[in-house]
Amino acid sequence: MSEFLSAGPAAHIQPGESKLLHTDDDIIAVHNVNGTYYALSNICPHANGPLNQGFIENDCISCPWHGWSFPLSPENPPRDGLLRYHVTVDNGELRITLPPIIGTKSSFD
Ligand code: FES
Repeated sequence: MSEFLSAGPAAHIQPGESKLLHTDDDIIAVHNVNGTYYALSNICPHANGPLNQGFIENDCISCPWHGWSFPLSPENPPRDGLLRYHVTVDNGELRITLPPIIGTKSSFD
């Protein structure tokens, strides 16, 4: 069963910015990429690097520690160990859907 976590007003995360949410199970980073919101674990699956300190380019985020790159989209994500979340905007409020999405396609597809 899905539940929702509020990430606050969408207007509080400007394009190019991100916001961290701490849950019991994860640290979730909500990123505004040119007006589209993405939510993903901020813990790099390689060695726990802080993904929000990396950079976003071509719809991927790169880890600042060793440069691994991860697609942002929760749609059909690769099986790369990164947890991604669906985000919706409801009356200006960002809502994160729990639980996260686990990648199902091979990283080599
Ligand atoms: S910790 Fe992220 S690439 Fe190594």
